[in-house]
Amino acid sequence: MDQNKIDKLADLLNRLNQEGATKELREEALKLVTNIDPVELSLAEQKLIQDGMDPENLRHLCDVHMEVLSDELDKVKAQISTGHVIDTLIAEHNKIKDFLTELEAINFEIQKLNNKEDNPGLMKRLLELAILILDAENHHLREENVLFPELEKREITGPPRIMRMEHDALRLRKRALKEAAENVNELDFNIFKELVDETSKYIVFNLRDHIYKEDHILYPTALERIIGSEIWDDMKIQCDKIGYCSFTPSV
Ligand SMILES: [Fe+2]
Ligand SMILES: [Fe+2]
Repeated sequence: MDQNKIDKLADLLNRLNQEGATKELREEALKLVTNIDPVELSLAEQKLIQDGMDPENLRHLCDVHMEVLSDELDKVKAQISTGHVIDTLIAEHNKIKDFLTELEAINFEIQKLNNKEDNPGLMKRLLELAILILDAENHHLREENVLFPELEKREITGPPRIMRMEHDALRLRKRALKEAAENVNELDFNIFKELVDETSKYIVFNLRDHIYKEDHILYPTALERIIGSEIWDDMKIQCDKIGYCSFTPSV
């Protein structure tokens, strides 16, 4: 990707971060990113970080990127069969997205309560969900220890770095949510509600965003750059060693 395009992308991202997605900026961005494939986009982002852009500015891929990327996931699915490393990761994402939808609904209900006795079933389900969401740990480990190193070997280092950063930030909130759910009886109910509200909203928003970026940018990049079925077979063996999640669909 030529420097001119990267400079334009940098300028656009800076303006989007400063001014928000105005109609003019959206149109300009659409025009620019329509011509960038996911690999180029990853490399461009990496270059921007190397050149000093705050990775935070790249964490919130704007709506415009999302619009352009919306068919990337379908393209990925068409290339792989059931049980492929990436296929399993995507299937797990779908389960996690369902948990997030339920967490959002449960938090909404909890915020309406005046005391926990009004709906003890809700507290029980909150704890179950917090445990399920934390159980995605093996999913993240397979990414961190198998997928990301293969990308890094191919000099794609920026996107995995951002993804690792997000895993760490999310781990803290997931543990905090589980702790709150476990301690509902010990905590003042208003403090409990605040904790649940804050951690749930963080997890729902950021984990959805994270999954979106992996499905639409990182995984397509991996399939384009990691060539050779023997490499993928070997990655699969390493993934098997790490293990799966209680909610991984069986293949
Ligand atoms: Fe991830
Ligand atoms: Fe993931």
